Amino acid sequence: MEERRRYISEEFNKRYGRLPSIWARAPGRVDLMGSHTDYNMGFVMTMTIDRDTWIAARPREDNQVAIYSCNVPGGALFSLEDIQRDEAVPWTNYVRGVAAEMQASGYKLRGFDGLVHSTIPFGSGLSSSAAIEMATALLFKTLSGLELDPVDMALIGQKAENEFVGVSTGILDQYSSVMGRNGCAILLDCRHLTSEVVRINPSLHVVICNTRAKRNLVGTEYDERRAQCEEGVRLLQRFYPEITALRDVTPAMFEGQRRALPALIARRCQFIIEENQRVLDLAQALPEGRPEPLHALFAASYSGALDLYEIGAPAMSAMMQAMSTAPGAVAARQAGAGFGGSMVALVKGGFLEPFTEHVTKIYQQETKIQPEVDAVQAVPGAMILDWV
Ligand code: GLA
Repeated sequence: MEERRRYISEEFNKRYGRLPSIWARAPGRVDLMGSHTDYNMGFVMTMTIDRDTWIAARPREDNQVAIYSCNVPGGALFSLEDIQRDEAVPWTNYVRGVAAEMQASGYKLRGFDGLVHSTIPFGSGLSSSAAIEMATALLFKTLSGLELDPVDMALIGQKAENEFVGVSTGILDQYSSVMGRNGCAILLDCRHLTSEVVRINPSLHVVICNTRAKRNLVGTEYDERRAQCEEGVRLLQRFYPEITALRDVTPAMFEGQRRALPALIARRCQFIIEENQRVLDLAQALPEGRPEPLHALFAASYSGALDLYEIGAPAMSAMMQAMSTAPGAVAARQAGAGFGGSMVALVKGGFLEPFTEHVTKIYQQETKIQPEVDAVQAVPGAMILDWV
């Protein structure tokens, strides 16, 4: 931590000719259950991971924000009075978007010079974008002296993503990044924006297996899934006028009317309805740690994601094969939006090394891609590390 800080301070000094006075950090996340349930107002079992994004900053007095990164080239200097999208350096849109949405909500912001440093792999489904958004929101909140609770910040981040960046994601990523708990998973209720802490049995490791395969079409396919779920709700409302989201549909209600839905819409709805139930079941199974129920829940989630929701990818199938046959593997499934990216496994204590070795070897044989296999710990949600 000290070394990272020293490095960022030096880089900051090189760029801005002075030292940072405030440090914000926000972590990435991994979902243990609940794919695409968030925009259906359902449940997700999520946890923060010990990979995070820091922004070192120093306030400015001229209503401008300068933002650069230690990880990627380019950056931006923009005025808080006229915030435009930047097509040339798209990552800066997360910072611009948060500023624009905070101002649209009536908050008066103070600008800053900022330098980002992240240990979250980009574009791999571990919420690197939510982390930069939440670190940005926290910086603005602190430097501008605003009253804003973590859920307000998550909603602003989601709005930035939906309206400024233009991806119609749910609340999962931002909520996890600000509300995640040390050492525990959280059971998130996406309708009420509340969560409960869920203990992970200490005999288990959570291991992220990043396929590192390029994710194609994730935006378009994502929006399509969302539209199909909305269509399902519209059709089911003819029979159940009280429902407003798939969250309100029980398996029995669905079975009663599934024939009234086009086959594709029915498959999408079935996945979400069953996945919601699996999240609730996992809240029981995770603290108990018994391998059979954990295995069954993860396996059903994976096969539903593949066959019903169709968010698989060849690299994910290869990774699933590698994870499921590895020593110590208890349970394995997709993570994030799917279509490649990272997957997640629960691994028995003491088996990390042979698990990692096996997954790396088998996946690489099959795909010729070197995966990233990493045990992760849940860490506290976004915070100011230091402010002088
Ligand atoms: C992405 C989105 C989230 C969520 C997941 C799928 O991570 O940003 O809102 O929909 O996909 O569960």
